[in-house]
Amino acid sequence: MVLGLLAAVLDVAAAEYIGEETCLVCHQVSGEQFGHTRHAGAFRTNAQTELERRVCESCHGPGSDHQLDPTAPGAIVGFSSDSGDLEQQNGMCLACHQGGGRTHWAGSIHEAADLACSDCHNPMVRVSVDSALRVSSINETCLSCHQQQRLEFRKRSHMPVLEGVMTCADCHQPHGSPTRALLRGETVNQTCYECHQERRGPFIWEHAPVREDCMNCHRPHGSNHESLLVTAQPFLCQQCHMQLRHPAALQTPGSLPGANFDARLGNRSCRNCHTQIHGSNHPAGAQLMR
Ligand code: HEC
Ligand code: HEC
Ligand code: HEC
Ligand code: HEC
Ligand code: HEC
Ligand code: HEC
Ligand code: HEC
Ligand code: HEC
Ligand code: HEC
Ligand code: HEC
Repeated sequence: MVLGLLAAVLDVAAAEYIGEETCLVCHQVSGEQFGHTRHAGAFRTNAQTELERRVCESCHGPGSDHQLDPTAPGAIVGFSSDSGDLEQQNGMCLACHQGGGRTHWAGSIHEAADLACSDCHNPMVRVSVDSALRVSSINETCLSCHQQQRLEFRKRSHMPVLEGVMTCADCHQPHGSPTRALLRGETVNQTCYECHQERRGPFIWEHAPVREDCMNCHRPHGSNHESLLVTAQPFLCQQCHMQLRHPAALQTPGSLPGANFDARLGNRSCRNCHTQIHGSNHPAGAQLMR
């Protein structure tokens, strides 16, 4: 594997740079389409490094072998599944884009699943406003592989992602992150606080499961219960609070043999009294009731 990569790199390295003008003799249409992209703007008129001045060959590698025999496999870095080593392809991009957002690319779940930069990006044509994506939007880029999430975002309660108000990348870092599920924040909660600041607190009276992880009660993508809840109320609360010392033994029908159903559990249930589920700043809010 390592030897193969080395051989591939050496192979291309043995070729020589022939310059954009020569590429355009045979690839005029590609060259024109490429002209509308940010890379073209940067490389053609404002090159900052020797590599950028190579234009086409900064990504595709030196082209002399390819010029001699355009059908020879591997003579140029082609970014297609049958045109060479994946690590080599990604390596061409990482030569300029290491660090920053790519700090956690190596070892990320997308890298481990053998994704190429070009599975999400196409620098040859300007299809998206930003980020040189393969398709017009971030969401469609992700949903092209993650069909399940499209279904989830169509459930009754969901954040406005398919509506175009926010994107998958508001919560996820597709190039890898140190946290689970490629999250942007250091934790699930930090990710959520980015937009729901009022949940960050601090609170005089905290509700332990809220501080621990929003996912204790919420789904991230969609739910058929109100407010993205994992399950219906009052069962949501009763999962953790079975033995209550309530003024009246509040029970739902059938939750305990012989228990009486208390009307106060109807409708919005526990929240009729415990309104401050996410934490309270009232001096007398220990029971999350104000
Ligand atoms: C003499 C004409 C000629 C020149 C010069 C030329 N190409 Fe090509 N190139 C071709 C042809 C023909 C193909 C299609 C080969 C095939 O279908 O197998 C091709 C294919 C490609 C591909 C697709 C390869 C793949 O594996 O999918 C890339 C990328 C490419 N060229 C880039 C370049 C770049 C960059 C340059 C300049 C450094 C260049 N070419 C110079 C003729 C040329
Ligand atoms: C920033 C990197 C980058 C630069 C610069 C670049 N390419 Fe590409 N090129 C790619 C990638 C990635 C693909 C694969 C696109 C895809 O998956 O469809 C590609 C694909 C191609 C192909 C295959 C057919 C196609 O159009 O998809 C040709 C031919 C090609 N490039 C020629 C060129 C030429 C000529 C230039 C210079 C005018 C150039 N490229 C500049 C990254 C680059
Ligand atoms: C030689 C250095 C170099 C290489 C190689 C290179 N890039 Fe870039 N890339 C740049 C520069 C410089 C910019 C900034 C252009 C600008 O903002 O004007 C950029 C911008 C981008 C952007 C943002 C573009 C936008 O429209 O917002 C993406 C995405 C990107 N590159 C992906 C890639 C991918 C994928 C590859 C490999 C196929 C690649 N780059 C190869 C130098 C490079
Ligand atoms: C799973 C899809 C996916 C893959 C794979 C991917 N990207 Fe991206 N990339 C995106 C999306 C979506 C954005 C725009 C959202 C954002 O800014 O985070 C982006 C933005 C970028 C940008 C511009 C913004 C920035 O972070 O600097 C660069 C540069 C870039 N990608 C380079 C790469 C390189 C290099 C690779 C391969 C090592 C790669 N990407 C692989 C989806 C992907
Ligand atoms: C080319 C296909 C492809 C694209 C495009 C893609 N992914 Fe993935 N993604 C995968 C694969 C394969 C995995 C590995 C786990 C799996 O099979 O679900 C994965 C895993 C993930 C995971 C982690 C799942 C876990 O269990 O930890 C997240 C989060 C994710 N992708 C988000 C995104 C986002 C956000 C985008 C768009 C920026 C995106 N993906 C685009 C193929 C893709
Ligand atoms: C509001 C923030 C947010 C948005 C927006 C978001 N996600 Fe997620 N996603 C999460 C969180 C949080 C998790 C982790 C859930 C867990 O670990 O319990 C997750 C998990 C995932 C996973 C792993 C499997 C799973 O379902 O748990 C995939 C794949 C994924 N997201 C893809 C996407 C895609 C694709 C989009 C856009 C269509 C998207 N996400 C939008 C927050 C978000
Ligand atoms: C990029 C900003 C952003 C991030 C990050 C974010 N949200 Fe949201 N959230 C929104 C927006 C916008 C709405 C819709 C608000 C509205 O309709 O008034 C929303 C609505 C909600 C709702 C109410 C849904 C309903 O059906 O009424 C819940 C619950 C929620 N978010 C939980 C979370 C959780 C949990 C996280 C972390 C995984 C999170 N949010 C991360 C922007 C965000
Ligand atoms: C113990 C369960 C529980 C946990 C944990 C939890 N929530 Fe909630 N959340 C609820 C319930 C119940 C509702 C619906 C009742 C309401 O509207 O107050 C709700 C509603 C919401 C809403 C929509 C209504 C509103 O007030 O804007 C948002 C946004 C929200 N939660 C964000 C979060 C965030 C962010 C976290 C993590 C910091 C979190 N929640 C953790 C139970 C929880
Ligand atoms: C994931 C488990 C979990 C869920 C779900 C949950 N709680 Fe809690 N709750 C706790 C824990 C743990 C405490 C802290 C108990 C302690 O300190 O003794 C707590 C504390 C409380 C308190 C303060 C009482 C006290 O003694 O400190 C109230 C009131 C409360 N929860 C109501 C609710 C309501 C109403 C719901 C449903 C919206 C709910 N809880 C959902 C785990 C949970
Ligand atoms: C009619 C108003 C009301 C409703 C409805 C209600 N509670 Fe309470 N709850 C109270 C009061 C008042 C206290 C304080 C009792 C005390 O200090 O002895 C309390 C205390 C608690 C406590 C802390 C003391 C203990 O018994 O552990 C928890 C936890 C709790 N409630 C959870 C719930 C859950 C879960 C539900 C829904 C199944 C619920 N409550 C419904 C009024 C209510």
